[in-house]
Amino acid sequence: MLRGATICGVGSYVPERVLTNTDLEEMVDTSDEWIVNHTGIKQRRIAAADQASSDLAIMAGQRALQDAAVRPEDLNLVIVNTLTPDMFFPATACLVQDALGATNAGAFDMSSGCTGFIYALAAGANFIRSNDYEYVLVISAETLSRIANWTDRSTCVLFGDGAGAAVLKPCPPGGGLLSYALDSHGEHGDLLILPGGGSRLRLTPQLIAEHKDCLEMEGHEIFKLAVRGIPQVAEVALDKAGVSASDVAAVVMHQANKRILDAAGQRLGIPNERIVCTVDKYGNTSAASVPLALDDIYRRGGLHPGDIVLFVGFGAGFTLGAAVVRWTLEPFTTNTPA
Ligand code: UT7
Repeated sequence: MLRGATICGVGSYVPERVLTNTDLEEMVDTSDEWIVNHTGIKQRRIAAADQASSDLAIMAGQRALQDAAVRPEDLNLVIVNTLTPDMFFPATACLVQDALGATNAGAFDMSSGCTGFIYALAAGANFIRSNDYEYVLVISAETLSRIANWTDRSTCVLFGDGAGAAVLKPCPPGGGLLSYALDSHGEHGDLLILPGGGSRLRLTPQLIAEHKDCLEMEGHEIFKLAVRGIPQVAEVALDKAGVSASDVAAVVMHQANKRILDAAGQRLGIPNERIVCTVDKYGNTSAASVPLALDDIYRRGGLHPGDIVLFVGFGAGFTLGAAVVRWTLEPFTTNTPA
């Protein structure tokens, strides 16, 4: 039987600057009331001018390593999943690997939209389950403020910056990651897209003036796909793990919209109090939102060994993903030895 892989440390980081809905009222034709009623978002964090995604990732990674009491040089692999890498290349993961002092690790980036952390978790766990590696650091980090169109009220009010990370290590079978389900619906790729800057559409001053260096989103269509797709992908992962929705102690879902969290919970039959919500304070941080939400409940002491945790994500691609984890870490306390 394959050995298991489990999360042995969690960490996150958000930039200091807070942008409130009231601040946004000064920037575009919007209101705190509209944003709260339509999304549940009250504020988001914005990276400083000198902070790139790797800087956020490094902070989150350091905190996760400290929580796991794992030394950077013991890492075998660093995986970063991001929509907003520092640059095309080198990979953000390589920058993070160097800054952390993970001198014995390989490193690569992944791009799976807001489902990113679940893709990275599945990939990282498989390097361990196959007996190849002992310690893998998975990070999702985003600076969406850099690709937001700050003149488009339908998107700019939604996004924020942040990073979350988890250290993975081997565990006996039956613990840690029990199952995952990863989906892609590339036919819906144009619903959430950054059209310019890649090999398809090189940026020109004209295209930049048209905001082709910024993300574009058909929010309403994504909303419908998400509400329909989340229960489906979650059920596949729960079935594979041999557990049911009533066994789930906590749902750590992509934080795009409080209405999506509520609708998905209702369709899965999981009560609201088991669904972690951080969208009010961080907004939509794309791939970073799942590990940020994980760190939130973990540091509040909300996870206990044996708890079944359901991770769910959806986003650019259009990707969907779910993972079921039997939690093995003791609840976080400030006394946890580093
Ligand atoms: O993270 C990955 C994937 N992304 C998502 O999951 C996003 C999913 N979608 C959503 O969360 C929601 O669809 C949104 C929050 C993006 C939009 O909410 P909605 O309830 O679907 O609103 P809507 O797009 O249907 O727009 C309703 C109205 C429109 O006005 P009219 O045409 O009815 O007069 C918009 O122009 O709200 C207007 N509107 C705004 N008004 C004030 C759109 N954005 C704003 C705004 N402030 N910021």
